[in-house]
This record gives sequence, structure tokens and C-alpha cells, in this order.
Amino acid sequence: MSDHKNKALQDAVPDVAHHVLRDGHKIPQLGFGTYPMDDAEAEALLPEALWRGYRLLDTAVNYGNERGVGRGIRHSGISRDDIFLTSKIPGRDHGRESVRRSLEGSLRRLGTDYLDLYLIHWPNPGVDQYVQTWQAMLEARDEGLIRSVGVSNFLPEHLLRLEAETGEMPVVNQVELHPQYQQEALRAFHQEHRILTQAWSPLGRKTDLLQSDWLAEIGRRQGRTPAQVVLRWHVQSGIVPIPKSSNPERMAENIDVFEWDLTDEQMERLRMMHTGISGSGFDPAAHEEM
Ligand SMILES: NC(=O)c1ccc[n+]([C@@H]2O[C@H](COP(=O)([O-])OP(=O)(O)OC[C@H]3O[C@@H](n4cnc5c(N)ncnc54)[C@H](OP(=O)(O)O)[C@@H]3O)[C@@H](O)[C@H]2O)c1
Repeated sequence: MSDHKNKALQDAVPDVAHHVLRDGHKIPQLGFGTYPMDDAEAEALLPEALWRGYRLLDTAVNYGNERGVGRGIRHSGISRDDIFLTSKIPGRDHGRESVRRSLEGSLRRLGTDYLDLYLIHWPNPGVDQYVQTWQAMLEARDEGLIRSVGVSNFLPEHLLRLEAETGEMPVVNQVELHPQYQQEALRAFHQEHRILTQAWSPLGRKTDLLQSDWLAEIGRRQGRTPAQVVLRWHVQSGIVPIPKSSNPERMAENIDVFEWDLTDEQMERLRMMHTGISGSGFDPAAHEEM
């Protein structure tokens, strides 16, 4: 893309507001998911996302696209300092000794010397190494390789154990969450402990969420699409969604959720869409992902 077009796009994009994490670092209120892009797709699409205003990027060792994400960031011409970059440690690298090697691999592939946020991808309670992993992540943070440390797919019992054994809770827990699967009890726990909730599959991938008549109706009244209604619901609920799209028009659609509001009645309608049925069917108490 020419610099001229890049500049024109950047002038037109909405400003994404920020939250402040318990550790004092700022995090954008909406981000960009990169699963299941491969390196080539990530390299081509990350500049498109950044030019449309996304600044929080979500990757993981297990997505196999960290090189492409790093190249895409560099191709975009946007400064690394202006980007909030997240990666995740896989189950096979859990344990006091392997965290450093895994983290250094992520940094090398991404072409950066720090992560804004590093997450334990799954607790893998059967392996029972998440506490040692967390301890090593806290040390890497204290050395400056990571700004904020968090987890993904953790249940309250896992979070409480981290605190009991290391004295420190994560600042973020990234979990499956959308209007049909609202995780209200977990969100209340997060609020009590000042843990920010990030939502994966925020648009309900693998569900029929976006086909809902209720969403269509609210969208008609707001002059918005069903996906925008869902993403506005996340933002207005204080949840940070990380929608993935490989389509530049949908990238622009998904980030345009900051200059309008859902009414109280519309928020209540969305609250009533909860079915408790997860799209993935993964239960963190039993799911093991290496
Ligand atoms: N921590 C974890 O365990 C975990 C697990 C899963 C995912 N994640 C992260 O969360 C991110 C998002 O989750 P996800 O990819 O599972 O689900 P998602 O963002 O809810 O849904 C992505 C799907 O929705 C489509 N889509 C995007 N925008 C749309 C729109 N405006 N209208 C209609 N369809 C639209 C995309 O297709 P197009 O690409 O064709 O637009 C894609 O098929 C992932 O990319 C990954 O970074 C984390």
C-alpha cells in the first residue's frame, strides 16, 4: 500500500480507548486475533489490521505465525512502541527451566526484545506445572522481557493457587466469551481481584451467534451489523474482545465500535442471549493442550 493510502486510512480509523491494568500498564479496549493465520497470511494481513487502527495483537507459539506477525508489524511502518503485543506459552514448555527458552524463541521469531503481555495458554492441570511456569514468568517480567503477565483459560481455583503459592495474581485472563457464553461468575471473580477479562472467540466462532434475529433487530435500530453489536456489547461490558478477520472490510467493521452506545434495554437483551453453551466445548479443568 502507498504511504498516501496508508495515511488516509489512518486518518479515518476510530481511536481505540484504553484500560489501565492493575500493574499500571495501558491496554487497548479491543484487539486483533491471528488464529488460524499462518506466517504468510499474518505477514500480509497484519499491516492491513494496523492501518485500520488495531494496536493490540494476539498470537501464540501454538499458532505457528509469530514470524509472520513480526514481519507484518515491521511492514506496517507503525512503531513497535505503539503496539501492544501478546504471545502465549504452550503446554509443552511449562516448567521452571523451559519458560526462558520458550520466551526467547517467541521474541526471536517476533523480532522484538519484549512482550507487552505473556500468557500461559492453558493451565493443563493434569501436567500440574502451571505454578512453576508462572513463577518463571514473574522473573522474566522483573528482568524486563515482559511488561505484563497473565493467563488464558484459567478457572478461579487455578488463579487462587497462583496467588497462594507465588503471592501474585495475573492481570489478564483470556477466556472464551461471547453473548451465548457470558462467564458471569468468572467475570465477577475477575472484578474482585482486578483481573481484566479478555474474550477469545468474541464473535462466537463455531456457534450460530451472528445469525441471531435479536442481533439483527438491534443492528437495524443502531444502523450496525450483528458483529458490531456483539463487539460493542463486549466493550461496553468492560471486556476486551480480540476478533480475528482475514477480510479488510470486516477488520474495519469490527473496530468501529467506539463512537456509539447500546441502550440499557439493548444490553439487557444481549444479557438474555446467554445459553451457557461454549462454541469450543473445551473445559479448562480437563482440556490439555501441549
Ligand atoms: N487463548 C485461547 O485459548 C484462544 C483460543 C481461540 C482463539 N484465541 C484468540 O482469539 C482470537 C479470536 O477468536 P476466534 O478466531 O476463535 O473467533 P472470532 O474472532 O469470534 O471469529 C472469527 C471468525 O469470524 C469471522 N468474522 C470476523 N469478523 C466478522 C464479521 N464482522 N462478520 C461476520 N464474520 C466475521 C472470521 O472470518 P473472516 O476471517 O473471513 O472475516 C472468522 O471465521 C483468535 O484469532 C486468537 O487470537 C485464543
